[in-house]
Amino acid sequence: MQRMPRERLLELVEDSPISAVDLFCGAGGLTYGLMQAGIRVEAGIDIAEQARHAYRTNNPGAKFLCWDVAGKYCPSISKLFRPGSIRVLAGCAPCQPFSKLTNGNGTHEDWNLLDNFGRFVRGLLPELVTMENVPELEERGSEVYLRFVGTLEECGYSVARKIVHCEHYGVPQSRRRLVLLASRLGEISIPEGRYRFPSQWKTVRQVIGALRPLASGEGDPDDPLHVASLLSPTNLERIRATPRDGGTWKHWPEHLILPCHRKSTGKTYSSIYGRMWWDKPGPTMTTLCTGLGNGRFGHPEQDRAITLREAALMQSFPPAYEFWPREQKLNRKAVGRMIGNAVPPKLAKALGEALLASVLTVGVTHQGQEAS
Ligand SMILES: C[S@@+](CC[C@H](N)C(=O)[O-])C[C@H]1O[C@@H](n2cnc3c(N)ncnc32)[C@H](O)[C@@H]1O
Repeated sequence: MQRMPRERLLELVEDSPISAVDLFCGAGGLTYGLMQAGIRVEAGIDIAEQARHAYRTNNPGAKFLCWDVAGKYCPSISKLFRPGSIRVLAGCAPCQPFSKLTNGNGTHEDWNLLDNFGRFVRGLLPELVTMENVPELEERGSEVYLRFVGTLEECGYSVARKIVHCEHYGVPQSRRRLVLLASRLGEISIPEGRYRFPSQWKTVRQVIGALRPLASGEGDPDDPLHVASLLSPTNLERIRATPRDGGTWKHWPEHLILPCHRKSTGKTYSSIYGRMWWDKPGPTMTTLCTGLGNGRFGHPEQDRAITLREAALMQSFPPAYEFWPREQKLNRKAVGRMIGNAVPPKLAKALGEALLASVLTVGVTHQGQEAS
């Protein structure tokens, strides 16, 4: 996905029949994809001020509001929508409370955020709603999720929900996500991805193969995000001992193997410290994916972990997406969080297209009125 020039993106969304507000917008993965589909996003709301630069720079026309969603009431959100448009309330509440990577450990406050999303749905009754989260939310039948779906149904929405594979939507990454679309205008469905078969999936080689090669600790002077973390001497020895293209710790000499891997339970963590495959999608990008020991985050052939830029490309952000002001010292942790937490823009674009299609199917004009 190439970053669309500002003017072109503004032109695309100017006459959109749909006006959206993105709760929990982060760096704007969801907003960017919705805009690419032709939806006008008026504002993104996020408690993290650090996301402002990325959100504003890449999403022309959308305001960034540094607000705590839990502390806001319906009128503040209501007035953000363009009058007369069909309204979409979009949101991807923090997924850490439900994620298997954190064993579902989150504070009660985190869980409340989805309830807050439900509170705005009930109070504003937007014509359309879109939500994305980790599959565990549905798989574990979590109460907060069932409450959210219950709110939509009570309010008369038609609700579609599905666990999707992001690689089916052109994202070069194996990532399962729960998506939900809801409509008060009529039936709505979640689109099948266009890339159903492994031979069609975008690969690591296709998105990062042409980037400047780097050694551990080295950076690309032309791109502040293409910088490899510095490995300790032992980890450097480990990655050198990991065969290219998909190798893991199972190939290491005995002295490099970690105590936890020696236990019988450790054998199941086969991908940790592994290298990605060139000709497959990458693994799920997490907030810590530039650390070699945090998953299969080794470069397919260079002796290092992937860089923030590589992670962003595997999330399907365009190469020119800016995450941090160039004149400021890069906060790697904050940018890693924004990238790992994002809704992949290509998935978001497919969801945006489905929202638009649902509006056109029921014959609604851009004034938000049923066509006669
Ligand atoms: C999963 S991320 C959203 C990613 C974003 N939709 C994207 O596609 O880039 C969740 C976001 O919720 C934000 N957040 C957490 N607590 C919040 C709160 N109380 N109010 C507003 N935003 C909050 C976090 O800062 C984080 O950016």
